[in-house]
Amino acid sequence: MENEIETKIAEFAAAKNLLVEPNAVRLLSKKQNFEEILKELLIQNVFLITEQKVNDFLIKKETKLGEVTQVLVKPRSFVPLASEIDPKYRVMEEYDVTNKNASGGTVKNFLEYFRGKFNFLSSTIKKRTGFEAKPISMLKQTSPNNEIALIGMISKKWISKNGHLVFELEDLEATCVVVFPKTDTHLTESAQKAVLDNVVGVKGKKASDEMIIANEIVFPELPNRAVKAPARDVSVASISDIHVGSKLFLEKEFNQFLEWLNGNVSTQKENERIGKIKYLIITGDNVDGIGVYPDQFDELAIKDIFIQYEAFAELIKKVPEYIEIFIIPGQHDAVRRADPQPAIGKEYTKSLAGYKNVHFIGSPSWVEIEGLKFLLYHGASIHDLTSSVSFLRPDKPEEGMVELLKRRDLMASYGSKQPYVPEKNDYLLVREEPDFYFGGDMHHNGYTQYRGCTVINSGTWQARTAFQIQLGHVPTPGIAVETDLKTRKITENHFYTQGGKKWS
Ligand SMILES: [Fe+2]
Repeated sequence: MENEIETKIAEFAAAKNLLVEPNAVRLLSKKQNFEEILKELLIQNVFLITEQKVNDFLIKKETKLGEVTQVLVKPRSFVPLASEIDPKYRVMEEYDVTNKNASGGTVKNFLEYFRGKFNFLSSTIKKRTGFEAKPISMLKQTSPNNEIALIGMISKKWISKNGHLVFELEDLEATCVVVFPKTDTHLTESAQKAVLDNVVGVKGKKASDEMIIANEIVFPELPNRAVKAPARDVSVASISDIHVGSKLFLEKEFNQFLEWLNGNVSTQKENERIGKIKYLIITGDNVDGIGVYPDQFDELAIKDIFIQYEAFAELIKKVPEYIEIFIIPGQHDAVRRADPQPAIGKEYTKSLAGYKNVHFIGSPSWVEIEGLKFLLYHGASIHDLTSSVSFLRPDKPEEGMVELLKRRDLMASYGSKQPYVPEKNDYLLVREEPDFYFGGDMHHNGYTQYRGCTVINSGTWQARTAFQIQLGHVPTPGIAVETDLKTRKITENHFYTQGGKKWS
């Protein structure tokens, strides 16, 4: 069938005296309207039809991106400070699954995965002063009513007949039951936040050889740290969930953001701030994808995944070249849905290959920027966490992000909605102490500080979807977040609504 169409293209080209390169023929063969495309190129006096020419044509046709090109090539009216300094960053590849995924998904892989997770998280809890944990098997040798501290993974969680919260806890050798007395409301409230597969420490009195009555629960947590400042006075901009290709992609607003980033629509005072932006972080769902959910096809403005990425690339090319851009995938991107996700493949990002300032990395990823550690994770597991506990809300994504940091694990719970691959090296563990944690996914902005780490959730560039209306979720579209690394002051720059709301 494909060959038949290719022959038709060759015949049509010969009749019109057009030279069509083989790659262009392949691309055209996927288009029903190839004759129309070739005719329009002919009108534009294009006789040598290359793959690039066809691609450019399709992008301009399927989007309105061609219209913004002139606006953005305007010379800058100011010299940005960030354009005069070299970037200072290192992608911490040791924590990125890209090109390393090696899990066969066997039982052995799962056992190794959970063992590795337990070892790291229990050693983190053991570092806490005053928490002298014993293996669960030692409970048998402890005298009744004596106090003991234990560390384990939560394998079951339930409410007893008498209304107490109860965990079954297991370490590598034994299991026990931990009861949180309902009279201790503060303790029960903390313990309620734990979900299955979390590794926690508990202290309590021995009730039997298999049971303790808890009086304390601890999570791995980040240690209390002072906020670190970099030596140079630069800023980071962050955005997320652009969803290029969706009919609801806010193309006009996104182009305004790009013009703003180029200093074309800002005041002189604002330019001083914009000029400090040396890095741009994009936390996934860069395109809307194809077939991500039922009936998505009807909601797409661009129905070809390659063209969606081409349109995305056209936008990225408009970011000033002195800004280093770090792009991770989300569940709408053309990589596996399961976490950890590798970087978006080169086959989708070809036209950005020559752009040395554009870095496609996995989710999660770690980047050292200006001597500070940045954790980047799209954030699918927060959906699971939010739906399994009552204290989190979708319009407060930063609170869910802090909960993941407290667990030192980006995988909230195995076997929920979000799939995970048990990679030999668990890339979802928060092995380092991040200074910044950037997320996305919830289509809602949110910010907080947690033990020396600035937590930033960037919103979206997609208008409110029918699904969000159904759920009652109100997104915060069209906001570019700008963070001063020295002062950690966060500024929201609004492009969807009028005016700029500041947050600090
Ligand atoms: Fe999204």
